[in-house]
Amino acid sequence: MGLLSNFIKNKDQKVIGVDIGSSSVKIVQLHKTSGKVYLDSYGEFSLASYVNKVVGQATSLPIEKIVAGTSSLLLDSNINTKVAGMAIPFRSSMVSLIKMPKVPEKQLNEMVPIEARKYIPSSLDEVTLDWSVIGTTEVSGVEQLKILLVAIHNNIIEKYKQISEGVKLDILFYEIEVFSAARALLNTDFSKPSIIIDMGANSTNFYVILEGNIEVSHTIGRGSQDISAAISKSSGLDIKEAEMVKRDIGLSKNNPNIKKAVEMNLEYIFAEIERLITNYQNKNSLAIDEVILSGGGSALKGLGEFVSERLSIKTRVARPFDSVIAPEFLQETLSEIGPSFSVAVGVALRGLQDN
Ligand SMILES: Nc1ncnc2c1ncn2[C@@H]1O[C@H](COP(=O)(O)OP(=O)(O)OP(=O)(O)O)[C@@H](O)[C@H]1O
Ligand SMILES: [Mg+2]
Repeated sequence: MGLLSNFIKNKDQKVIGVDIGSSSVKIVQLHKTSGKVYLDSYGEFSLASYVNKVVGQATSLPIEKIVAGTSSLLLDSNINTKVAGMAIPFRSSMVSLIKMPKVPEKQLNEMVPIEARKYIPSSLDEVTLDWSVIGTTEVSGVEQLKILLVAIHNNIIEKYKQISEGVKLDILFYEIEVFSAARALLNTDFSKPSIIIDMGANSTNFYVILEGNIEVSHTIGRGSQDISAAISKSSGLDIKEAEMVKRDIGLSKNNPNIKKAVEMNLEYIFAEIERLITNYQNKNSLAIDEVILSGGGSALKGLGEFVSERLSIKTRVARPFDSVIAPEFLQETLSEIGPSFSVAVGVALRGLQDN
């Protein structure tokens, strides 16, 4: 898709992927040599320190604070390029799959914005619109184009441009986070629907992806910070200690009380997810092939087993660093922190494409 990109070719063969989340900023620098992709550096900065919050909790910060946090992360990380791509949160975008008659491209350029009015609740002057033809489908015997339509509010794009300028990065493109995560995580059978579950601090995003496109998306207003809050409530620990207990113990059988508090929150999220999956499968007569757990919340110990049992679908926890070459001594750490970095890795991978 063209809209969010500057059409600059990345000749440098080095690129930083930047993911500004509500609880923390993540960066990953990759480089490419002889067609192989290597990890140069990665880092995370908790935004909680700018407000009276604890690591792992969501924040809503003004641009200056985000710039300050991201700048200090860039400074502390071992990066040696300014070339970067940046993710835009899914909640800031409107993504629709639309069907249009098969017409020449020029005509399509005029027709899509008209059709877009039906799908986009804002005035078209307020949003930046982009689309790409992703395939064809037959509707009542007539061949139609399947078009992925993306709209982002202009003030959101402006905000991310200001952040990029503030942190002095040369941004090649902006990308909606789900496309970045899909690039880093989906390497299996493209022709079957997969699910990416992105568990962040205050919400969990659910996406059904088929052939690289989002078939269904949904945000559940509960995330990993709610698990820490539940642990704190049930065990009397303060929120900081509860966050540590969540990370250390998670769903371990050794601590039934903690396990129960964690499971109650997960049950809320996964009952909703089960409903979404049943709807999708019934409507499309397609079975979900696999579930991929991403986002920091998915680093929870035992979550993979919990979800595969709860949903009875093959489940894996995101390992985005598997698609890059990294030193042996880092492998264990990269596998533990992997889920937090899916988006940042996916952004950086895009920056190295077509070189
Ligand atoms: N090892 C771990 N075990 C359990 N939870 C973890 C672990 N590591 C991080 N988390 C939780 O993950 C959450 C943050 O996830 P993530 O970094 O994906 O969110 P974000 O990108 O900042 O938020 P969003 O994408 O929703 O804006 C925090 O609530 C944190 O407590
Ligand atoms: Mg995130």
